[in-house]
Amino acid sequence: MALSDFDLVFFGGSGDLAMRKLLPAMYARHRAKDLPPTARIICVGRHESSQQEYLDMVETNSRPHISDEHFDATLWQTFCDRITYVTLNASDDTSYGDLTAQLRNDPALTRVFYLATPPSLFAEICKNLAKNGLATSYSRVVLEKPLGRDLESAKLINAEVGQVFTESQIFRIDHYLGKEAVQNLLALRFGNVLFEPLWRREWISDVQITIAEELGCGGRTGYYDTSGALRDMLQNHLLQLLCIVAMESPVSISADAVRDEKLKVLRSLKPFTQTTLAQDVIRGQYRGGHVKGAEVPGYRKEEGADPDSRTETFVALKAEIDTWRWAGVPFFLRTGKRMADSLAEIVVRFKSIPHSIFTQNTNSFQPNCLVIRLQPDEGLQLNLMAKTPGDGMRLKPAELELDFRESFKAPRMDAYERLLLDVLRGQLTLFMRSDELEAAWAWVEPILDFWEQDDADPIPYTAGTWGPAAASALIGRDGLQWREEALPE
Ligand code: BG6
Repeated sequence: MALSDFDLVFFGGSGDLAMRKLLPAMYARHRAKDLPPTARIICVGRHESSQQEYLDMVETNSRPHISDEHFDATLWQTFCDRITYVTLNASDDTSYGDLTAQLRNDPALTRVFYLATPPSLFAEICKNLAKNGLATSYSRVVLEKPLGRDLESAKLINAEVGQVFTESQIFRIDHYLGKEAVQNLLALRFGNVLFEPLWRREWISDVQITIAEELGCGGRTGYYDTSGALRDMLQNHLLQLLCIVAMESPVSISADAVRDEKLKVLRSLKPFTQTTLAQDVIRGQYRGGHVKGAEVPGYRKEEGADPDSRTETFVALKAEIDTWRWAGVPFFLRTGKRMADSLAEIVVRFKSIPHSIFTQNTNSFQPNCLVIRLQPDEGLQLNLMAKTPGDGMRLKPAELELDFRESFKAPRMDAYERLLLDVLRGQLTLFMRSDELEAAWAWVEPILDFWEQDDADPIPYTAGTWGPAAASALIGRDGLQWREEALPE
């Protein structure tokens, strides 16, 4: 679907997200010739910078995030011609004059305000846009995470932004939903008959969702100390992945149909009790160690970090979904910084065969397992048992592999490219609705409260490992192992 002409405004235009992700994503779509010729990008920031100074900043900070293979100097120049920098104090309603002058007043255009700012500014910016007559019926607003710190602040953001924009104008972004493999999971589940009969408690033993990063928090401890892994990764990215794995078939792929089903999953998550909070939620913090051979400092020694910080850089927990489909199936969620490897994957493990007729090497029997890989490469792996060639009936685990990059030669799109295109097209399916956001906060909030009352520090783990041993014990209590522990040496 071709895009209509647009004015796209990036609040936080000098910030890290705009430089690292948003501008490179828009350049990629410019290069792919997706953008209408007169479409414009207006970058808004607090700093007094001339147009040229800002473009120099883009050259220094954004250009390195575009690979040489995709860089073309002429296209880069025409892309930069679309950009206008406007200085504005977002909290001062009288400083919106220059922005007003830049925006074209035409209902045939799409107008998007992308708030890549701290959430404390969301309400104020929306109010000031309204005061200045900029929040027109043909405007949309994009809210970057973190969308609040807890249920109360998330509700407040929803209410205040909701006074200016209707729900259909609000795009709450979770960039994990823009990843190719996540959408492929929808295709896998609802575009094939194969899995649906098996996708339930009768056949699935457990589900593991891991987002592990080798990266530490150096340079972002200021933000991270106010957030931690639970708020930064689990409340949003991991829970959204869980929703896509667990939801019932939506009646269509339309935004509300999909979001209704995701909401049902969030509302069916078994609430924690004092016992499960103590037993089923593990928080850790990395200490110095080696990641892929390089020595790295511990979290408390990162530049700017509080030397006594109790911020968790790792969290693992066991969730359960109280529905007929999922009752009793544990969902293990895990995320951490400075882990042994960078990977994001969903592992759906099926039950063991009910009875074996094979008597040779029965101890190498492994249950079937479907691995949906999101990162670093995107693909699917189905683990089966197969006979080894030769004499005797010896069975061995074997793999069916689908590598999306190999199978589909089409050019890849970064999550932000896809999501920005969706915003410009007005497609809300991959964005969170207000009730989803609140349901996710409502479920994690007892963990935050429990930690606040608990004097214990997060469990230390050495950088370059898979997190604290307590996380292995957590899954071990169900007689299971994390996938990397279960893999043959
Ligand atoms: C962001 C978090 O939302 O996701 C970061 O704030 C994290 O802490 C990042 O590093 C991970 O995203 P990706 O796409 O690199 O896995």
